[in-house]
Amino acid sequence: MSVRVVHVVGARPQFPKLGAVLRAQADDPGVEPLVVHTGQHYDPALSDAFFDALSLPEPAVTLGIGSGPQGAQTGRMLEAVERALTALEPAVVVVYGDTNSTLAGALAATKLGLPCAHVEAGLRSFDRRMPEELNRVAVDHLCDRLFAPTEGALARLAVEGLAERAELTGDVTADATLHAEALAARRSRVLSTLGLERGAYAIATLHRAESTRADALPGLLAALEAAARRTGTMVWPVHPRTAAAIAAVDPGWPARAAAAGLRTIEPLGPLDFLRLVADACVVLTDSGGLQKEAFLLGVPCVTLRSRTEWTETVEAGANRLATDAPAVLEAIEHHLADPRSRTLRRALALELYGGGLAGRRIADALHRMTQDTRP
Ligand code: UD1
Repeated sequence: MSVRVVHVVGARPQFPKLGAVLRAQADDPGVEPLVVHTGQHYDPALSDAFFDALSLPEPAVTLGIGSGPQGAQTGRMLEAVERALTALEPAVVVVYGDTNSTLAGALAATKLGLPCAHVEAGLRSFDRRMPEELNRVAVDHLCDRLFAPTEGALARLAVEGLAERAELTGDVTADATLHAEALAARRSRVLSTLGLERGAYAIATLHRAESTRADALPGLLAALEAAARRTGTMVWPVHPRTAAAIAAVDPGWPARAAAAGLRTIEPLGPLDFLRLVADACVVLTDSGGLQKEAFLLGVPCVTLRSRTEWTETVEAGANRLATDAPAVLEAIEHHLADPRSRTLRRALALELYGGGLAGRRIADALHRMTQDTRP
């Protein structure tokens, strides 16, 4: 008889990670994987497009929580996830990354006494203004098993006294990126649709709470405008949070930016997005996951933040941190002059992130957890 493993997800970056673990769990007849979707992200472009493109199974439960202030959103999720887990009676619960859905899932599971595993454990930006940083710290200390993506993450868990619960699995983003890259090569026509030439454009994303605040956003917009001018063409799929913030602080900006070569477009599905990243000359972002995806695709990255939790991307010379126009321009020049080939960077990233086998290692560890909890 199989036992249930419930995966709690809800925000865009979690869906490809979920796919990496589910593909590996498909080989395990002893486990019935089920998905609980909190509904943190509800726009079709941020959620349905990912489930369709990555052939993810229909969630067993969708909670429809939606947006709201940090506490209200997390609180509503906590109540609803607790109800869902009580009904589903899983042997093990799995949470991913650092979003409010991760925190609600971990808190609900552990308070119910259910064994909970954290995929992407041990990351720290040491910037407590980020809701994600608070989520990471709390979730790692709550969960019973901690799947560390890198040696650095494993070492940080040990510093916090969590070594016994932790193991090195590699990073599911590597698995997910390789998988989506192969699908995108077959299915995506995004370059011709947008009239772009390989290697002749930059790609940008920006959506974090601390980037879209009125005191930070104008400086970052100026930096993106300068970067667009330098690279000639820049494509920016704009997150709904950011679109609303730009309209509030500087409604005239999109027209000015267009004159500088910046093309703002709607958020893309995962395959078109990955394809655009793979063929860009440089990536500019405040996203955590995209810093690694760029590295794994061999594309240099400028991170529009003063700190990163993915420090190995910086140590490997694949990523530079910059938050104003002069620093962003300097980082772009540095990257464009880097003589290392894409192939070399890709190989380095794949080695650092577990070779694309993290999903397999995690599925095996989850199987062991279900054995431990058998009555
Ligand atoms: C969340 C995660 C972040 C992740 C990001 C990916 C937290 C604290 N942050 O940030 O780690 O990188 O998702 O996108 O969980 N909105 C919509 N439609 C949607 C979802 C959001 O319009 O489907 C708008 C709403 O105005 C909402 C705002 O975006 O208020 C913020 O959404 P929220 O889910 O709170 O955080 P993200 O910025 O998406």
